[in-house]
Amino acid sequence: MGSEREGRVLVAAGGGVAAMKTPFLLRRLREAGYQVRALATERALAFTTETALAVAAGSPVATDAAWFAASGGALHLELARWADLLVVAPATAAGLARAASGLAEDLLTATIAAGVPRVLWAPAMNPEMWHYPATQENVSRLRGWGHGFVGPEHGALAAVGEGAGVGRMSEPETIVEHVRYHLTPKDLAGLTVIVSAGPTREYFDPVRFISNPSSGKMGYALAEAARDRGARVILVSGPTSLPAPWGVELIAVERAEEMHQAITSRFDDADAVVMAAAVADWRPAETASEKTPKRSGSNTVELVPTPDILAELGRRKERQVLVGFAMETGAGRERARSKLERKNLDFICLNYPTRSGSAFGGDYNEVEMLFPDGRVVATGRVSKREVAEAIWDRVRDLLRERNEEGAQDA
Ligand code: CTP
Repeated sequence: MGSEREGRVLVAAGGGVAAMKTPFLLRRLREAGYQVRALATERALAFTTETALAVAAGSPVATDAAWFAASGGALHLELARWADLLVVAPATAAGLARAASGLAEDLLTATIAAGVPRVLWAPAMNPEMWHYPATQENVSRLRGWGHGFVGPEHGALAAVGEGAGVGRMSEPETIVEHVRYHLTPKDLAGLTVIVSAGPTREYFDPVRFISNPSSGKMGYALAEAARDRGARVILVSGPTSLPAPWGVELIAVERAEEMHQAITSRFDDADAVVMAAAVADWRPAETASEKTPKRSGSNTVELVPTPDILAELGRRKERQVLVGFAMETGAGRERARSKLERKNLDFICLNYPTRSGSAFGGDYNEVEMLFPDGRVVATGRVSKREVAEAIWDRVRDLLRERNEEGAQDA
């Protein structure tokens, strides 16, 4: 948090109850490292205040009053040139209609017409207004011009007694994720990547299993980073408590055998596979179909190996980039190197789950990427998202090299 990120975001509040949340969105964007400015339509100021927006943005708010008062009246041009992205949150049915008909009658629509590079709408309205054919046509028209949308979502509606429906503005955190998507260069565009995440569960009976404390956070961070960089992402995930990331094909599995099936059946379509899952190495030889009653005395269970997914992909791989993880508790490099070779990987990410700060379930990690030529690239202790970005940088470079070699051979 707090690191300066590329991107200037103009946040415009439209006239709806959800404008109460616009100051929170500004704050979250600043926390995520973006430069922000706020714009409010005249009607928005019936639901939020100029002061709340100015404090959250850390700068004066662009309003229609300011536009008309400004000498030269070119605030719309200045804003359109300053912003990398305009986020309209909340966007009303009227705001969508004005923009879709190309009106430039207030500061918001004039800024859009003045050629702001990208627009992201976060609509909020009651479900009838959202489903109204004119609104839907306006949305598809704007989409056709390359505008992005986040939400509206299903949930409780603002007016008490209106119940629930599709019409709630997405939460500020979700809007920030979409901003990040829109501002990230698409250097993985055209690629299909498979990421595995989380633990597996190997059942003794319907209610008991062997597993491990993997939270899935590293794999989910990899999936989200690849999505933001433009890849088609297939996330094969064991059981986790994480919400399904948007824009990612999520395949939920439990057992190593199911993960094996899900990944190997899609391998031919993939350009890269990153195995961040903590796959159980063993499973009970037998799984009882009914819960096994408690018995006194000791008990012995026979365990048999699960399929080694990565090793199989290593044997099958042609052009794909294959990345593994090695969790080691002791002197790890040698063991990780032997896995790198044995599984025929392009690189392996060595981490130490028992080190403080990089433990299972945390938001940070510290990874050493080991390459077959002996190179070691260390990330230092950074967020799992930053580890993910570093991994995709290497995958992208390897795929580029491979393509260049392929082009020379042809
Ligand atoms: N892996 C896999 N299939 C398995 C076990 C592991 O694909 N059945 C993958 C993991 O997702 C990870 C890598 O192989 O990317 C290394 O896993 P790890 O369990 O640390 O290595 P093993 O080869 O199982 O060696 P060991 O348990 O002896 O450390």
